[in-house]
Amino acid sequence: MSDASSLLSPVLVGPYLLRNRVVMPPLTRNRATDEFVPTARMAVYYAQRASAGLQVAEGAPISEQAVAYPRVPGIWNASQRDAWRQVTDAVHAAGGVIFLQLWHVGRVSHSLTQPSGELPVAPSAVRIEEGEIYTPEGLQEFEAPRSLGTDEVRAIVQDYAAAARNAMRAGFDGVEIHGANGYLVDQFLNDQVNRRTDRYGGDVPNRLRFLLEVVDAVAAVWGPDRVGVRLSPSGTWMDCRDTDKKSLYSAAVEALGERSLAYLHLVEPTIAGSMSVEASPDAISSAYFRHLYSGTLIVSGDHTLESGAKAIDNGTADLVGYGRAFIANPDLPTRFEQGAPLAEADRALFYSHDDKGYTDYPTIEEERHLTALMAAEEAGQLSFEAVRRALVNGDPLAQVARSQHYARAHFAPEPR
Ligand code: PHB
Repeated sequence: MSDASSLLSPVLVGPYLLRNRVVMPPLTRNRATDEFVPTARMAVYYAQRASAGLQVAEGAPISEQAVAYPRVPGIWNASQRDAWRQVTDAVHAAGGVIFLQLWHVGRVSHSLTQPSGELPVAPSAVRIEEGEIYTPEGLQEFEAPRSLGTDEVRAIVQDYAAAARNAMRAGFDGVEIHGANGYLVDQFLNDQVNRRTDRYGGDVPNRLRFLLEVVDAVAAVWGPDRVGVRLSPSGTWMDCRDTDKKSLYSAAVEALGERSLAYLHLVEPTIAGSMSVEASPDAISSAYFRHLYSGTLIVSGDHTLESGAKAIDNGTADLVGYGRAFIANPDLPTRFEQGAPLAEADRALFYSHDDKGYTDYPTIEEERHLTALMAAEEAGQLSFEAVRRALVNGDPLAQVARSQHYARAHFAPEPR
């Protein structure tokens, strides 16, 4: 059994004393409404996972233009803002701390998704060559986006500020700016995507300008100590390429280091979007950025209990994010503490519609209870009728036992 004590020790992030260093990073799950309004189901899901030291709620588009995917929860209008309250109230009632990730996808969208059927926007009219994008009419190739005018860029900075104010009124404890994974902020950073000749393009300081204006506008709303930034310095997902990622992200990290933010959140080099990949030969390790950043550092991607504890012990990180593990293990810190086995997340249900693969992953305690219930039933000590009665009386564990038993009896195991 590994020693999880360093992961389970408290840590100060901005003004918040977090109970542990296990972070639930932002995870797109598509459980909002077709109008991009958060749902009660989402409140259940986040509350189930509130034992994380910090939860960063999934990317929330800051405007209609910022959307790429269906049923993502927005933060640009009053209905969305008020519906997020269910989530923040449920998490706070469970003793958790929750930030919201502010998201604009830029060119990672499609005219079939965009308001009034317009082209998606980007720093320059450079198309994503690889891959396809989901649209209401099925998968499509990416289009060449429309290049933003200088005034439009300033207007988007203001959209971030407005979304930040909405997040505050929705009851979040802070916000994270999504600067990773090839979305809009990352598109401004990388020289193969940003071909602008105005003050937002060209040399590194110009390409950093959009990120820093967004950070400063959002920090003016929240105070810098309640604002985090996420970057993916080794990522090339969504064709986000630069001739010198090391210089680019070093400059970005140093500029962020001057701003006394809540944290910097780095995506590890083995992650491409939501998938694990081989790190590229020129990947830059998170440890490299540790030397450039004296504030609080979160690293996320492919960590185990062992690697996460080690990162904290040797000082490469202050907190560690566990995305897929948190999907399948709502009580992840408890499992770490007990050295209990981790359940595997079912990828086929990452972006589906309902509770299946979302709110129905049991805690380790529920799993044990369930195993006992099923064993008792199979040994004839507990009648099917007794389980049914418990079910009718609303015992959620009986409900899980019943459905698992039923699934085992009637269906072959689903392929993963
Ligand atoms: C995804 O939906 O797969 C996704 C969304 C946002 C990210 C990465 C992946 O930053």
